[in-house]
Amino acid sequence: MSGARDRLRAALGWPARRLLDPRARWTADLVDDQLGGHRGERPAVHDRLDVLEELQRRQLAALGAHDAAGRALPRSLEALDEPVAALVNWAAGPDGPAAQAGLWFNEPVPVRVGPGRAEVLLVNERIVEQPYVLAAVPSGASVLDVGGAESTLALALASRGHDVRVVDPRGYPLAHPGLSVSACALSALSLDERVDCAVALSAVEHFGLGHYAGSGAGDDRDALVALRSLVRPGGTLLLTVPFAADAGVEGFERVYDLASLDALLAGWEVVDRSAAWRLDRLTWMAGSLEAPRGDRGVALVTAVNR
Ligand SMILES: C[S@@+](CC[C@H](N)C(=O)[O-])C[C@H]1O[C@@H](n2cnc3c(N)ncnc32)[C@H](O)[C@@H]1O
Repeated sequence: MSGARDRLRAALGWPARRLLDPRARWTADLVDDQLGGHRGERPAVHDRLDVLEELQRRQLAALGAHDAAGRALPRSLEALDEPVAALVNWAAGPDGPAAQAGLWFNEPVPVRVGPGRAEVLLVNERIVEQPYVLAAVPSGASVLDVGGAESTLALALASRGHDVRVVDPRGYPLAHPGLSVSACALSALSLDERVDCAVALSAVEHFGLGHYAGSGAGDDRDALVALRSLVRPGGTLLLTVPFAADAGVEGFERVYDLASLDALLAGWEVVDRSAAWRLDRLTWMAGSLEAPRGDRGVALVTAVNR
């Protein structure tokens, strides 16, 4: 519809539009019916439609799609201003509406926009953790993904033909015939049959620190003990955790060093372990746990349940 027709429609009240515009008549009749009135006999209907239209205009303006007068805004990067950019970033981030509906996934390369620009915010450790796990999962293995709620990894594994269970108090928002979900803490999980492989990708370092709702009692070491009875003898554990020269707790997660990583893996036979080091905000580099290449790394471990 042209801008002139839009403006004419906006200027006319609903009584006039009902007479002149067949679609407006249809809408008004529909609302009459919904309200249980008699067609055309309830002046309040026109007031309500005016209010609804005004609300819609304001919502579109708030979303940056239209200005306050209802005119469509240009949708180009160059036209982006600060308030709209802030809205877009919030909507795409871990507090936005999708996240509130449990549909935010922590992707390795988050992008942010600003007036006239879009840029990589950072490259996070998922850039090395996800490929490590995908390459190390044994062919055809059944998999338990511990703390997988905000990751597409479980769906990727199910789509590759693995029988996958996610255990996370937050559940799992994606569905697949090969995927099942236990919406509980790991400590509350019991399985009819042990799995071939457990994945704990950036998960157990949070356990017992009180940041995640429903995490229950038990810390990281309890989790690794529990996994020994959930993974079949000879089965595999794929573990990734934050790593640095000195162990500690940073905010809502533990950071491991060689000694605390060894302690965490007590009872498991480590068959592969390496690191990736964060060189700067955008760069991760493969390396070893013994030779730090920065202040923060991630440990990548494969272990067997003997
Ligand atoms: C940082 S996220 C894990 C990241 C995720 N694996 C990924 O690939 O991006 C930590 C997850 O652990 C879950 N979690 C916390 N305590 C848990 C517990 N006791 N048992 C299972 N999952 C738990 C949280 O709900 C959250 O989804």
